[in-house]
Amino acid sequence: MRLAELLARCRREMESRGLPPDPDSEILSAALAGVARPRLFAEREREVGDPTSVLEGWIRRRASGEPLQYILGDWEFYGREFRLSRDTLIPRPETEGLVEGVVEGWKRSGKCAGLLLDVGTGCGAIAVTLAAELPRVRVVAVDVCMGALSVARGNALRHGVLGRVRLLRSDAYSALKSGARFDVVISNPPYVSETEWESLPREVRDFEPAVALLGGPDGLSVIRRLVREGAGFLLPGGELRCEIGETQGDAVRRLPCGPLRFAGVERDLAGRDRVARWVLPAAE
Ligand SMILES: C[S@@+](CC[C@H](N)C(=O)[O-])C[C@H]1O[C@@H](n2cnc3c(N)ncnc32)[C@H](O)[C@@H]1O
Repeated sequence: MRLAELLARCRREMESRGLPPDPDSEILSAALAGVARPRLFAEREREVGDPTSVLEGWIRRRASGEPLQYILGDWEFYGREFRLSRDTLIPRPETEGLVEGVVEGWKRSGKCAGLLLDVGTGCGAIAVTLAAELPRVRVVAVDVCMGALSVARGNALRHGVLGRVRLLRSDAYSALKSGARFDVVISNPPYVSETEWESLPREVRDFEPAVALLGGPDGLSVIRRLVREGAGFLLPGGELRCEIGETQGDAVRRLPCGPLRFAGVERDLAGRDRVARWVLPAAE
């Protein structure tokens, strides 16, 4: 079968199951043929064998509502491919802004070596990206889920940073040694409230891990702990940087933060509140 025929078949099969054929047909066909998506047209005459049975399985899974990212088992974050499993959240483009702030700030500061902490690492998207973008930093990446930590380990290995990323099972800061101090604590914690959970799309609720999404009754259970205990894990001048939900800007600025100083909320490209920041003032 030629790639053009595979794409046409994929489109037909998706339409016959009432699924919108684009862009999924192109993404699935490119993955099946082992061709980068921007090369689909250029490579349309390429022989791809007969991947019909794999294609049918993938489309059946898609028709059941399973996200494309779990079917492919791989997704891009910050220009790198990350392996995923059903233990890991699918990394979102909004989270790239959370990471970008640290990468840009670090480069601007002229700092080289440093120690960063990623709480709730999932597939390791944040921790691995930081280690790859900032070659002199070391990162501790924690998660409550062992399955996620094992996927993150594979991604750290895949991107050549396993030597600088330490993975640890921990409920927030609980497994860290007292006295451990970081230049930056970064987290994309679970922040969906119990009420919002009901309104999430089925694809998210039925397939992504609830522990990665649900942040207690008001969505702030994990963030509240990160902020309350954060001063004990930051170096003077250090920053805690958390992704938040678009409606949580006002609530997070009122969270008790001890010696930390609330440093504002950054908006994403769509103008929605997205990243909350606290700093531990440097000693005078
Ligand atoms: C929103 S996901 C973020 C995953 C990844 N960092 C990303 O941005 O794609 C939240 C992650 O936090 C983990 N998690 C949930 N509660 C936690 C807790 N109390 N302590 C540590 N990790 C937690 C979940 O297992 C999940 O991997």
